[in-house]
Amino acid sequence: MACPENMFFLIVLFISGVLACFGRRDLNATMPDGLDVLTGSCVQIPCSFDIPDQHKDTFNSTILPSGVWIKESPYFGERPDSVIFNSSETVNRYQGKITGNMSQKNCTTVFFNVTTSYSDKYYLRIENRPFLATDTEKSVHIDVSDLPSSPIITVSGEVKDGNPVSLNCSAVAPCPEHPPELTWTLPTQFTSKNQLQENSDQTKSVLSTVTFTPSYLHHEKNITCTAVYPVGTSNKRAEHNMMLNVSFSPKDTSASISPAHPVLVGSCVNLTCSSTANPPVTNFTWFQISGGETTQVASGQSYTLNVTGDGGLYYCEARNSHGCGKSNEVQLAIKGQKEPMVFGVAAGTLGAILLISLISLFVWRRNSRLHDGLERTDSPQGQNSPVGTVCTNQATAREEPEEPAEDQPEEIQYGDIDFSKLQTKETPAAAQDRVQGQESEYAEVNVTGRGAQLPPLNNLDGLYAQVNKTGGC
Ligand SMILES: *[C@@H]1O[C@H](CO)[C@@H](O)[C@H](O)[C@H]1NC(C)=O
Ligand SMILES: *[C@@H]1O[C@H](CO)[C@@H](O)[C@H](O)[C@H]1NC(C)=O
Ligand SMILES: *[C@@H]1O[C@H](CO)[C@@H](O)[C@H](O)[C@H]1NC(C)=O
Ligand SMILES: *[C@@H]1O[C@H](CO)[C@@H](O)[C@H](O)[C@H]1NC(C)=O
Ligand SMILES: *[C@@H]1O[C@H](CO)[C@@H](O)[C@H](O)[C@H]1NC(C)=O
Ligand SMILES: *[C@@H]1O[C@H](CO)[C@@H](O)[C@H](O)[C@H]1NC(C)=O
Ligand SMILES: *[C@@H]1O[C@H](CO)[C@@H](O)[C@H](O)[C@H]1NC(C)=O
Ligand SMILES: *[C@@H]1O[C@H](CO)[C@@H](O)[C@H](O)[C@H]1NC(C)=O
Ligand SMILES: *[C@@H]1O[C@H](CO)[C@@H](O)[C@H](O)[C@H]1NC(C)=O
Ligand SMILES: *[C@@H]1O[C@H](CO)[C@@H](O)[C@H](O)[C@H]1NC(C)=O
Ligand SMILES: *[C@@H]1O[C@H](CO)[C@@H](O)[C@H](O)[C@H]1NC(C)=O
Repeated sequence: MACPENMFFLIVLFISGVLACFGRRDLNATMPDGLDVLTGSCVQIPCSFDIPDQHKDTFNSTILPSGVWIKESPYFGERPDSVIFNSSETVNRYQGKITGNMSQKNCTTVFFNVTTSYSDKYYLRIENRPFLATDTEKSVHIDVSDLPSSPIITVSGEVKDGNPVSLNCSAVAPCPEHPPELTWTLPTQFTSKNQLQENSDQTKSVLSTVTFTPSYLHHEKNITCTAVYPVGTSNKRAEHNMMLNVSFSPKDTSASISPAHPVLVGSCVNLTCSSTANPPVTNFTWFQISGGETTQVASGQSYTLNVTGDGGLYYCEARNSHGCGKSNEVQLAIKGQKEPMVFGVAAGTLGAILLISLISLFVWRRNSRLHDGLERTDSPQGQNSPVGTVCTNQATAREEPEEPAEDQPEEIQYGDIDFSKLQTKETPAAAQDRVQGQESEYAEVNVTGRGAQLPPLNNLDGLYAQVNKTGGC
């Protein structure tokens, strides 16, 4: 009785035997699948081979085997010129050299002065009489081009504002004797390190690792890794451009009020918060400062309110997954009401001090303009500051470009700053004597102002620290 299971077993055995016979190789070569090579350069083919068990007895390992490279097809019988390299010959179609130690079965080969006609598949043959075998199943595809392939930039993890990050740039080095040189172009200072490394298929690459600290100002700036390949006496270059995606907490948060002029009780006023952040702001929150107390009054980028009569100071906070930013404070001014005195200071003597400081400020500004053109350059927005702006923070701490009119609120800003300092000094006379002192105070303001616009990262962090302390944001 025929047992079906045995039949099945026999069939499997038969088929696998046929497959084993069909798939049996007389030589096992190991080499990369493909290599991209530059015209005029060299190519190193990493190569090793192994003798299958059934031929071990015919392979005499005391004799140095010769290595043969065959182009296009492993069957060179009818086309002897497809044998482009034979290590036993002194003259070959291709100028090359087996650099590997053949007695260690290392058939690594270098071909020099590559031309575009070299683009093809290549097979390895080992001759060690009586052993002669070609690996018909493994070939390396060489692709020759005039232009090098672009290096590859890799980033691991998120690029975050203020967090040092490392990027890799890797460029193939098909001719390891003349590896490419990698250079970086970054919008900030960096350190980089280059090294030649071996890939898993034994091909070589140059790896450059760059380390830098991104700032939010680098968001959407390009970085470039350039590979320069020496070819003969000239160079060929390829580059990879990458746009930085820096994530950062809300910056440049600012509140504005519309309309900006004093309004009547019962009319509508829009407060709008603007900020830049990556990922974008998810949550805008509005706060009112009234009677020394801060209350959360609304959420949303815009806040429309029906003016009731108490006016007050407003600011907003913008938040994303990385943190939050606090805006300047805007004053809601009501028509007919006296503008509230900022910081609750109204005494006449103090007013006089204010006036004196303004005058001396004017004198100083006129003088300073004569010999300091630099200070005037960074101030595009001073004139459009919202009415009643009082808080010096990231959005408002900038210098004014034009000579201010007496009644503009920016005057109050300068006045406040001078004033708070002057409170420690006793008399108007003393203040007049201290024009010199004011000059340096004003210089302080300028420093912060510039910090907000062209921030070296540290300055900006400092500003944030201040805002965070006072605003709890
Ligand atoms: C290997 O080659 C050497 C030198 O030709 C010879 O003396 C030796 O007998 C050979 N060995 C075998 C196993 O054929
Ligand atoms: C390689 O060169 C040797 C020595 O000239 C020769 O005997 C052998 O046939 C050559 N191999 C091929 C594949 O042409
Ligand atoms: C083979 O030889 C090359 C030198 O041509 C060397 O770089 C490589 O490391 C060798 N491979 C092995 C597996 O020893
Ligand atoms: C090649 O390898 C053999 C055996 O490992 C060694 O004796 C010989 O010195 C090596 N040849 C070279 C050129 O390194
Ligand atoms: C490659 O060719 C150039 C001239 O075309 C020659 O000067 C140079 O020696 C060659 N390189 C090699 C390794 O043969
Ligand atoms: C850069 O390459 C090194 C070495 O291969 C590796 O350890 C590191 O993870 C790589 N970094 C990136 C960002 O790919
Ligand atoms: C930045 O890179 C992109 C390609 O990634 C390119 O189109 C753009 O022109 C580059 N911008 C600058 C300023 O180089
Ligand atoms: C940039 O990064 C942010 C946050 O990690 C992500 O939401 C956004 O899709 C990224 N943008 C691009 C263009 O990759
Ligand atoms: C503001 O509120 C007052 C009283 O609640 C109402 O009479 C007035 O119409 C409101 N104004 C607007 C513009 O909604
Ligand atoms: C406030 O904003 C709303 C919608 O954004 C608009 O319809 C309205 O005209 C604005 N009001 C003022 C006073 O700007
Ligand atoms: C926005 O933030 C405020 C204050 O942190 C919080 O009270 C509010 O619930 C938040 N809203 C949303 C939609 O997350």
